[in-house]
Amino acid sequence: MKEEYKVKLIQKEDLGPTCSVLTFICPEIAQTAQPGQFVNLSCAYFLKRPFGIMCVDKESNTFSVGVRKVGKGTGKILEAKEGDEFTVLGPLGNGFQFDGIKKLLLVGGGTGIFPIYCAAEYAKKNGIPCHIVNGYRSRNDAFLYEKFSSVCENFDVTTDAGDLGMKGNVMAYLETIDDSELAGATVMVVGPGIMMRKVSEWALAKGLTCYVSLEQRMACGIGACLVCVCKIKVEKEGKEFVHKRCCKDGPVFRAEEVIW
Ligand SMILES: Cc1cc2nc3c(=O)[nH]c(=O)nc-3n(C[C@H](O)[C@H](O)[C@H](O)COP(=O)(O)OP(=O)(O)OC[C@H]3O[C@@H](n4cnc5c(N)ncnc54)[C@H](O)[C@@H]3O)c2cc1C
Ligand code: FES
Repeated sequence: MKEEYKVKLIQKEDLGPTCSVLTFICPEIAQTAQPGQFVNLSCAYFLKRPFGIMCVDKESNTFSVGVRKVGKGTGKILEAKEGDEFTVLGPLGNGFQFDGIKKLLLVGGGTGIFPIYCAAEYAKKNGIPCHIVNGYRSRNDAFLYEKFSSVCENFDVTTDAGDLGMKGNVMAYLETIDDSELAGATVMVVGPGIMMRKVSEWALAKGLTCYVSLEQRMACGIGACLVCVCKIKVEKEGKEFVHKRCCKDGPVFRAEEVIW
């Protein structure tokens, strides 16, 4: 059983009117969390809400999450002020698998850029060559642009509006990458479902290993309620797929296993 921790919000950095990075002190999470894992954060509107871990600082025992307002729960969380207390459960789920990875192509979109940032920091700390491609709606929406630029020399963006980086979505950029750069790369993608699906299809067609982080609606976050099940392919006992819990068996899965 995962433990719950009382944590203090020590920093709130607004990225825009509806999005902030929240930083909490919690040694247990800061010391153990892996890229791709998430936390369940209390809010003043019913259940805790899941957020991908954006970064940890083992020296100051802090971890951060990026929160974008979509409904009442995230709205309440974003009303918090520095010094406020939350209850948090985590780190939860299975994160990205880095063993044996020679080079990385990280692809982020929407709030998926937050866990992608965590993977980018890990790559930098561990000397893994990394290329990041983030898709944004527009320049105003290009959250963490400076942070990504400082964590990775090979950072590219696309915008739907065309006012920053390449015009179009991430696929427009990925199609331009030379096969020689892609050879031997592992792809990790977090973002809206349609984006992850398109990137997965592209990566698998190129013969690349690809991981996605599924974003199902969640309740308990620890595998008990089955709210978050997704369909994962199997090749046994005549079955086509099994249901797996996104929170406990994922949220990271190999792209070829996922039934979209
Ligand atoms: C593993 C995981 C990691 C996540 N990481 C982040 C993150 O780093 N930053 C961030 O801002 N958000 C993240 N989310 C999404 C976040 O949890 C939801 O936006 C939040 O729970 C919505 O709560 P709400 O009460 O504000 O909205 P609600 O009123 O519950 O919903 C508002 C709208 O958002 C949709 N929605 C709610 N939950 C989800 C979900 N899990 N996936 C897709 N759509 C949803 C609803 O269908 C509805 O349309 C993550 C979700 C998961 C499962
Ligand atoms: S959220 Fe309860 S089983 Fe996944």
